[in-house]
Amino acid sequence: MNLTTTATDNKVPATADFLPLNGTDYVEFYVGNAKQAAHFYKSAFGFQSLAYAGPETGQMDRVSYVIRQNKLTFMLTTPLRANNEIADHIAKHGDGVKILSLMVDDATDAWHQTTSRGGKSYVEPYKLSDENGEIVISGIHTYGETVHLFIERKNYNGTFMPGFRKWETLYNPPSAGLLYVDHCVGNVGWNQMNPWVKFYEEVMGFKNILSFDDNDISTEYSALMSKVMSNGNGYVKFPINEPAEGKKKSQVEEYLDFYNGEGVQHVAIATANIVETVTDLQNRGVEFLKVPESYYADVLDRVGKIDEDLKPLSELGILIDKDDEGYLLQIFSKPLEDRPTLFFEIIQRKGAKSFGKGNFKALFEALEREQDLRGNL
Ligand code: FE2
Repeated sequence: MNLTTTATDNKVPATADFLPLNGTDYVEFYVGNAKQAAHFYKSAFGFQSLAYAGPETGQMDRVSYVIRQNKLTFMLTTPLRANNEIADHIAKHGDGVKILSLMVDDATDAWHQTTSRGGKSYVEPYKLSDENGEIVISGIHTYGETVHLFIERKNYNGTFMPGFRKWETLYNPPSAGLLYVDHCVGNVGWNQMNPWVKFYEEVMGFKNILSFDDNDISTEYSALMSKVMSNGNGYVKFPINEPAEGKKKSQVEEYLDFYNGEGVQHVAIATANIVETVTDLQNRGVEFLKVPESYYADVLDRVGKIDEDLKPLSELGILIDKDDEGYLLQIFSKPLEDRPTLFFEIIQRKGAKSFGKGNFKALFEALEREQDLRGNL
């Protein structure tokens, strides 16, 4: 992309963003049973049915259900037969995130920009079209077997994309107030954080906006390191975690063991009212990590005045942190599948742009109690 500057325009950044992103397009999960998973995300998290592809639409090898809640779109995909890439992925990793797709204006340019900078192609740019227009898709590999697809949908006005039919159903549970992907965290192996930071910097033009070392994120037993990568406009943020040496096994190591490699650890989802959202999710059966009651005894000394009453926050287990720009409220679900791998974070930002560093210790102690119950600490 060429950026032209004029004498009167002094707001143009010094370096142009070679990979402009408009946000997360959809997150695709490879799962053992997409029909049941779609029902779970609808009933437990308040998603609505959007689109479907399978043998009935000419997609013979798999089925995909697309569900949506506000700007949050998930695709759940299951293979129909054994001995293929999706079935192997599920056998190896369990249910998990395969694709973090990103909304772009030009998927062809996104592919050229990233692959010319060393990105490994997953799929070259190709077009899908139907009576509602056309979509261009391309993609590159990232950590583990995870993929970034670039989705260009500016010339498309159908329900989701060609090849999918609208999924209409009588079961339409109400929204839980989930709005959009705030950030998506990847767990990588020993000594792999910096190479992946470099990948996001060099291949995708991201910047490292925050770093945490094992002094920031450690408990008596285990530790991890993390660096937060953000694209130019801040719409897409990918923190990268690496295990660090501790007395016992860190939560990132447990993930790497059970996922059989690197992958997405958590998807953080924004809400405008975390008390309402989390109350609703708990009533629908979603389970969250709990911190001890003592966390709330001095939390306001640490974060200062907040708009919310402390009581519902402590009853629900919602954590509070602040930075120079404001505060945030967050809570973490238990793993969404039987393997201790992927979980969700629910986050409400009230000015803060950070990720809850002040909660790391209390949170990781809560995680370790769960890890210990599984015999993995
Ligand atoms: Fe997070």
